[in-house]
Amino acid sequence: MNRQNTEILTASDADLARAATLLAAGEIVAFPTETVYGLGADARSNAAVAKVYEAKGRPSFNPLIVHVANAATARRYVKWSDSAERLAIAFWPGPLTLVLPLRDGHGISPLVTAGLDTLAIRVPAHPAAHRLLELFDNPVAAPSANPSGRISPTSAAHVLAGLDGRIAAIVDDGACPVGLESTIVGLAGGGPELLRPGGLAEDRIESALGHRLSHRAESAALSAPGQLLSHYAPSAAVRLNAQSARPGEILLGFGDMACTLNLSNTGDLTEAAANLFDHLHRLDGQNRPIAVAPIPERGLGKAINDRLRRAAAPRPTRKTR
Ligand code: TXA
Ligand code: MG
Repeated sequence: MNRQNTEILTASDADLARAATLLAAGEIVAFPTETVYGLGADARSNAAVAKVYEAKGRPSFNPLIVHVANAATARRYVKWSDSAERLAIAFWPGPLTLVLPLRDGHGISPLVTAGLDTLAIRVPAHPAAHRLLELFDNPVAAPSANPSGRISPTSAAHVLAGLDGRIAAIVDDGACPVGLESTIVGLAGGGPELLRPGGLAEDRIESALGHRLSHRAESAALSAPGQLLSHYAPSAAVRLNAQSARPGEILLGFGDMACTLNLSNTGDLTEAAANLFDHLHRLDGQNRPIAVAPIPERGLGKAINDRLRRAAAPRPTRKTR
């Protein structure tokens, strides 16, 4: 792909207007959300969405999430339901993606849905993302702004490390407060299904619904999202549930322990989620195997462990670039 100068923009209104102009011109622009940085494109344009797949090196069967400014706009693209209403009222704007049947005449590029008849959609809470969506006034398809399979970006520096020169611009507004991708709930089949654990803890969703979520078996569907086993992977090897570092390893800790970097000294899972990808990026720069302390399997710990299992999974050999 052609190299281009990546414009570095701030979250000022003038710069966000520039980002919106670039999106309208079919360019791809990275922007912060409360979860991770997204790589945005006009979701109605095949050409723009194709640029996202190309820049990320993403397998084109893996569909994208569409971002809109509010639930009223979401309802133009998807068939709404009582569960959708309940979850949108409880958690939008915020780190929750809903998968719903597409409406007729939706106008979304089939590249976004990878040909499925459902759409993953969310309303991000980050003020810069929200303002950009208002200014652009159209749906924005945005996967995480990292080369496919690599660690997700929670700062502009992470984005540029992977995609500098491959994208038109980036809006730099500091670190992402949640630090894990949105939780994805499927509402297109029978009852609500958890398709991807993420930045909104499952038990909070169950409280809002008043019942348990079912879980899609990992192998079940292609729509089983981004859930290629090796994902979020650093270049270095990753060993989980480590009580201490073995010779040569660096230790990513949790709670009160001696380690190279700590996800949260106080054992706070929200803080650990916010630090996870940044710490993996930093340790990865050291080119040594990474050992990771055990993380409790509750609240946001479930999503943290999901990402860690994928970071540690055996990887297909990949080309370096
Ligand atoms: O927090 C987030 O969700 C971030 C920010 C940028 O919003 N985005 C993100 O996108 O994580 P991405 O592309 O890395 O992950 C999108 C996930 C994939 O796992 C994909 O398979 C799933 O959403 N997905 C998209 N459309 C779907 C659909 N129609 N049915 C089921 N899963 C879908
Ligand atoms: Mg991703």
